[in-house]
Amino acid sequence: MGKEKLGFFTISFLMILSLAMARFVVEKNNLKVTSPDSIKGVYECAIGNFGVPQYGGTLVGAVVYPKSNQKACKSYSDFDISFKSKPGRLPTFVLIDRGDCYFTLKAWIAQQAGAAAILVADSKVEPLITMDTPEEDKSDADYLQNINIPSALITKSLGDSIKSALSGGDMVNMKLDWTESVPHPDERVEYELWTNSNDECGKKCDTQIEFLKNFKGAAQILEKGGHTQFTPHYITWYCPEAFTLSKQCKSQCINHGKYCAPDPEQDFTKGYDGKDVVVQNLRQACVYRVMNETGKPWIWWDYVTDFAIRCPMKEKKYTKECADEVIRSLGIDLKKVDKCIGDPEADVENPILKAEQESQIGKGSRGDVTILPTLVVNNRQYRGKLEKGAVLKAMCSGFQESTEPAICLTEDLETNECLENNGGCWQDKASNITACQDTFRGRLCECPFVQGVKFVGDGYTHCKASGALHCGINNGGCWRETRGSYTYSACQDDHSNDCKCPIGFKGDGVKNCEDVDECKEKKVCQCPECKCKNTWGSYECSCSNGLLYMHEHDTCIGSGKVGTTKLSWSFLWVLIIVVGAASLSGYAIYKYRIRSYMDAEIRGIMAQYMPLESQPLNTSGTRMEDI
Ligand SMILES: *[C@@H]1O[C@H](CO)[C@@H](O)[C@H](O)[C@H]1NC(C)=O
Ligand SMILES: *[C@@H]1O[C@H](CO)[C@@H](O)[C@H](O)[C@H]1NC(C)=O
Repeated sequence: MGKEKLGFFTISFLMILSLAMARFVVEKNNLKVTSPDSIKGVYECAIGNFGVPQYGGTLVGAVVYPKSNQKACKSYSDFDISFKSKPGRLPTFVLIDRGDCYFTLKAWIAQQAGAAAILVADSKVEPLITMDTPEEDKSDADYLQNINIPSALITKSLGDSIKSALSGGDMVNMKLDWTESVPHPDERVEYELWTNSNDECGKKCDTQIEFLKNFKGAAQILEKGGHTQFTPHYITWYCPEAFTLSKQCKSQCINHGKYCAPDPEQDFTKGYDGKDVVVQNLRQACVYRVMNETGKPWIWWDYVTDFAIRCPMKEKKYTKECADEVIRSLGIDLKKVDKCIGDPEADVENPILKAEQESQIGKGSRGDVTILPTLVVNNRQYRGKLEKGAVLKAMCSGFQESTEPAICLTEDLETNECLENNGGCWQDKASNITACQDTFRGRLCECPFVQGVKFVGDGYTHCKASGALHCGINNGGCWRETRGSYTYSACQDDHSNDCKCPIGFKGDGVKNCEDVDECKEKKVCQCPECKCKNTWGSYECSCSNGLLYMHEHDTCIGSGKVGTTKLSWSFLWVLIIVVGAASLSGYAIYKYRIRSYMDAEIRGIMAQYMPLESQPLNTSGTRMEDI
C-alpha cells in the first residue's frame, strides 16, 4: 500500500511538474472607467475561472468599497452591509481586497449581499493572474456551482486609484466589457472541448457530465447547421522511460507507458485504473473520428452522454462491453472504432493519442491545456462556469456580428434588460419605437429600422427617422398638426433630416411650430384699402371699396379709380412703349448696317475686275496707305 502511494505521488509529481512548465494564458476583458475624470480610461482585467462572465456583452455599474469586511471572507449580513441596488440605480460592483480566503468564497459572499460583479484588487504589483476555483474538493464547496456573477481581478494600482477616488467622495462608474474577449472574425465558430470519460472525480466530473447533457442539444443544432466546427480532445501524460515497466505505469498507461491518465479514485488498489480511463477516452476520440468521416460529428455528443448514463464506474459498467453496446445502439460502425483504438498492449504509437498530446500544447492565443474540462472558443480559453447559457453566450459572441445563428437569439439567451426602464435607451412612447434591443450580447441601444426607414442617432438620447421615406414614420420626429381641413408638417420630404417649420409658422420644428401673425410681423396687407386678418398658417387680406386684392403685389386694384395703382399702370405703359421703340430702332439700325456692309463687299469684288471710275466715296485713310 505504502509503495503504491509512493508510485502515485511520483506520477502526480511528474504531472504537476508539467503543469508548472505549461504556458498559461490569462484571458482578459476590458474595464472602462467612465467617471470620475481622474481615472477615466480603459483598463484590462482578468476573467475569473468561475461565475458567469457575460461573454459578448457588457455590464455597467457603480463601484462600492465596503467600510468593513474588505476581503469579503465573512458574510456581509454580519456587518449590516447590503449591495442590492435600488430601483433606478446602477448595479453594484463590489471592490474586494485579495487575501485570507478563496476568490470563489469572496464572490459567493458578495453575490449573497446583492453584488452584480466583484472586482478583486491584487495585493501586490504583478501581472494579472487568473482567479481559479480551489483545488481541494471540499464538501462545503457547494456554493461554487451557485456563483453566477462575473468576477474580475484588477491590478493593485487600479484598485488603489479607485479606493482613493471613492474616499475623496467621487462616484466611480464603470463598464465591464466582454465583447472582445472572444474573437469573432467570421460566420463559423471553431471550438474544442477538453474532457474526460472519468466519472468518479467528484464535483468536477459531475459538473462536466451535467454540462455535456445540457449542452448537447445546442451543440448538435449548431454543428448540423454548419455554424460551428467542434472537436473533442483528451489529455494524456506519458510515463517516464525509467518507470515504464513499473506496476504503477502499467496500471495507469497503455502502449507501454506512452499514454497515461491518473487513477480515477486516486487509489491503485481498488476500482478502475488510469489505463481504463485512457482506453475509454480513446474510444470517445475514435467515435468522433469515425463519425466525422461520415459527416455526422455531432453523434459524439450522443455517445458520450449515453455512455455516462449507461456505463458508470459506480455500477462497474465502465467496460468495453457496455461501450460497444452504446456504439451499436447509435448505429456507429464498431469495427472502424476498434480499428482506430488498436491494441493498447502493443509497444507502438497510437496516431490519435499522439495527435492529442501534440495539440495539448498551446498555439497562438491559446495557452496549454492543463485543467479539465477546458473549453476553447475561436482559440481562446473560456473562463467561467461550465454552464449551458454562459457557454452559449461565449460561443455566440464568436460569430461575426449579425451572422449569429437563430439559437443565439432565442429567449434563453435574452437578458430582458429592455423591460426595465427601456434599458436606458431612446424610445418614442407615442409610436412605440425603441432603440433597445435584447440580445445575447446584452442589451444594445441602437437606433432601429422600422418599416424600411432607418433611424439615426446615438441610440441613447436621440434617434430620428432618416432617408426618403422618413416623414412616413412618426412624421420624421417633426412637428405636425391638423386643424379643420388644414394639416401642416415640419418634416421635409427631401433627404435632409432637419425639421423646419413650414411657411407661415415659426419654432424649432420638432416640438412646436407657432403660427406667425403675418399682419403684425410680416407687414403684409398694409395698403390703405387693405384689411388684414390672420389665420392659422396664413392670412387673409381683403380690400374695401370693391377693390380686388392682388396677392403677388400685396395691393388692391380697381377699374379707373385713382390710387397707387394708376401710377404704376401708366409707368408700365411708358415702359412698354419705350421697349417697343427701342427694339424697332434696333432693327432699323441692323438692317441698315447689313446693307452697307453688303454694298462695300460687292464693290470690293467688282473692283477686282474693273477699275471703278471714281473712288471718292471711300475716304477712309487705310486705302490711301495701300498705294
Ligand atoms: C472533421 O471533418 C472536417 C470536415 O471534413 C475536417 O475539416 C476536420 O479536420 C475533421 N476533424 C478531425 C479531427 O478529423
Ligand atoms: C409596444 O410594443 C410592444 C411589443 O411590440 C407591446 O408589447 C406593447 O404593448 C406596445 N405598447 C404600446 C403602447 O403600443
